[in-house]
Amino acid sequence: MSTIEAVIFDLDGVITDTAEYHYLAWKQLGEELDIPFDREFNETLKGVSRTDSLERILALGGRQDDFTPDEKAELAQKKNEHYVELIQHISSADLLPGIISFLDEIKEAGLKIGMASASKNAFAVVDALGVRHYFDHIVDAATVAESKPHPEVFLKAASALGVKPEHAIGVEDAAAGVTAIKAANMFAVAVGEESMLGHADLIVASTDELSLARILERVGE
Ligand code: BG6
Ligand code: MG
Repeated sequence: MSTIEAVIFDLDGVITDTAEYHYLAWKQLGEELDIPFDREFNETLKGVSRTDSLERILALGGRQDDFTPDEKAELAQKKNEHYVELIQHISSADLLPGIISFLDEIKEAGLKIGMASASKNAFAVVDALGVRHYFDHIVDAATVAESKPHPEVFLKAASALGVKPEHAIGVEDAAAGVTAIKAANMFAVAVGEESMLGHADLIVASTDELSLARILERVGE
């Protein structure tokens, strides 16, 4: 019998494609700062907190010392205002393929469901998607001190669910997120490309390939 008692989800890029909106909002800010970047660099921003993402973009352009802390806070706020504008119209139609049946499969199996998000907008997004009732506990960026790849957000979620990390599965789309899951001593399921996510225990190309039965088979191997 499997010892798995919970599945803990990342939000952006796993439940819904808000990862794309984060990309568009950062990209515009980058262009305004004369720091253009492509999707490959964007992979290094996924899962990373708002302030750390800004620092990475400024470092890319060699501009990390060009702004005071207040100016940096304003830049981060500007990006967030744009992001919030982009997510204004999201609804249950924006859930990624297969997510609802995966959540149902987990519930039917009697496992707990948690969320470990690096976003301060997590609750607003979950509510707009209409999926809050699936989650036994949600940890967002407002209550953690350390950003992914640090395991804190996953450890907090497991602890709130009353589950030991080694009895939990984490699901991520970001390299930093997979590192956080592994550092938390959980089984890491990644959605995306092998080239970025090769350190996961199991990789699927798309959310519609997520299946609890298939994951539990791999956990038992
Ligand atoms: C993560 C995203 O979930 O949240 C990152 O993958 C984003 O791209 C981070 O930067 C912080 O989000 P927010 O909404 O707090 O700016
Ligand atoms: Mg993500």
